[in-house]
Amino acid sequence: MAAIRANKAGAAPAAAPAAAAPAAPKAAPTAAAKPVGLSPAEMIKAARSAETGTPAPKVVLPSKPLPGKTAPAAAATAKATAVERRSVLASIAATLLSPVVIAWTSFVATATASTLALARFMMPNVLVEPPTRFKIGPPSDYAPGTVSTKWQAQFNIWVVNNEVDGVRCIYALSTVCTHLGCTPNWLEGEQKFKCPCHGSGFYKTGINFEGPAPRPLERVGLRLAEDGMLEVDKSIKFQRELGQWTNASSFVGVG
Ligand code: FES
Repeated sequence: MAAIRANKAGAAPAAAPAAAAPAAPKAAPTAAAKPVGLSPAEMIKAARSAETGTPAPKVVLPSKPLPGKTAPAAAATAKATAVERRSVLASIAATLLSPVVIAWTSFVATATASTLALARFMMPNVLVEPPTRFKIGPPSDYAPGTVSTKWQAQFNIWVVNNEVDGVRCIYALSTVCTHLGCTPNWLEGEQKFKCPCHGSGFYKTGINFEGPAPRPLERVGLRLAEDGMLEVDKSIKFQRELGQWTNASSFVGVG
């Protein structure tokens, strides 16, 4: 037991130096194992190099700009650019608003307007009017006893197939009321033309019988053309009160 105690008491100081010896070299990698800014892979590599004794890779951190020194220079540059731009704009504005430029601009604008007005004055005014002579189809298109309003809107005429003084004929009446020039309406049920303005009424023949109209409607020229078509000539007018309805050019006999 005494020997055993002696061994236990003596073994302890002997083992202590042996354990303390490897502790010294492990202190160096402990400080190198925590570099700031290393990735996990670099940290592992640094630890291994510390264990093997090879030097750890040197970490180079990116240098940061010094804000206190660059900001004033940039601000000064921006201020100089703004001042330069302002001076250029002021120069342009002064040039454009100078009296000479304004006077020349006004002169050119006035001259251009005058030239355009003169050119427009020299051009003729073209009025598109319907022709005064036109064809309205064969006599068979107009049945006996009928009033055709087919050409009222386009040529301002009515075409009537009627019996006048015992003679069946076709004639064309103007749609202009002889009172003040309104356009009467053909009323089929009442077999008359009725003016909406002041109430004048006209028979199918065109003769006035009521209202303020002072005279019958006017006929326009009508003839049978060589091709068998009825041809109207609005440049010729025939007035009953002047005895012109007997003129052969005021109607076309049929039947
Ligand atoms: S215009 Fe036709 S009645 Fe007066």
